[in-house]
Amino acid sequence: MRQVPRKFLIIGAGRLARHLSFYLKSQGLCVLNWKRLDSSCGFHLSASEKADLQEKSRQCEVVLLAIKDQAIAPFVQANEFLKENLLIHFSGALSLKECYSMHPLMTFGQKLYSLDFYPKIPFVLEEKSPSFSEVFFPLKNPWFRLEAEKKPLYHALCVASGNFTVLLWQEIMRRFQEELNLPAEILKPYLFKTMENLVSHSESALTGPLQRGDQKTIQLNLEALRGSQLFDVYKSFLNLSQVVH
Ligand SMILES: NC(=O)c1ccc[n+]([C@@H]2O[C@H](COP(=O)([O-])OP(=O)(O)OC[C@H]3O[C@@H](n4cnc5c(N)ncnc54)[C@H](OP(=O)(O)O)[C@@H]3O)[C@@H](O)[C@H]2O)c1
Repeated sequence: MRQVPRKFLIIGAGRLARHLSFYLKSQGLCVLNWKRLDSSCGFHLSASEKADLQEKSRQCEVVLLAIKDQAIAPFVQANEFLKENLLIHFSGALSLKECYSMHPLMTFGQKLYSLDFYPKIPFVLEEKSPSFSEVFFPLKNPWFRLEAEKKPLYHALCVASGNFTVLLWQEIMRRFQEELNLPAEILKPYLFKTMENLVSHSESALTGPLQRGDQKTIQLNLEALRGSQLFDVYKSFLNLSQVVH
């Protein structure tokens, strides 16, 4: 078990890069940052950008590639010297031969989280990756391993759980305001309690007509949604409720 913190170079300045940088630095870890200066340059870096990248990577042991999924492998290929370092990427969907993967099972937006939240974020590592504690000592985040061939399914399930619910609630908040003239705010206690119930007793958290098998109400709901995107969504969830319950 490693007992000496490593030095990190974070590539990118997007959402994950900002959160990672904030977390690692807050824990006293040595972190350098690098980002390309011109977003339109693709993989072509100017001589000074490349020299800066090479010099920073020389000063660090671990390079954290917090850049968009499709850029990870070409970026490493375009900067071969990076292979001297331990290379980590954070894509939940991709398994790459160029580097190890450690996916943080969390959503990262523009706003940073409070410092006590970051250690709770679980990381899902591919089987071939070194352990989380080996790379990120002394961080104590929970971490798990997953076979590379299961990553596409794993990531699809993450997207369906997190991103789909955001889209669903955004659409419902919009329709409350625009079509019912009710403030979206009034949905919040319902949203929080639904989430709390799901966390505390997921198996029995479902209520309402789908749980009761109330066909009459379900038909009324479908009629009210006919012609809108939520009609098909409702029908899909109806099918899902029959599989799950
Ligand atoms: N955000 C999340 O919730 C989340 C959660 C888990 C995992 N991840 C993973 O984290 C990684 C980064 O995602 P993100 O959400 O932070 O993305 P993001 O906010 O869109 O930032 C992407 C970063 O990649 C850089 N980039 C893109 N193409 C590049 C290239 N050819 N060379 C160098 N830099 C390049 C961008 O630089 P420019 O500004 O110059 O374009 C930007 O700094 C992805 O692998 C993603 O799957 C994200």
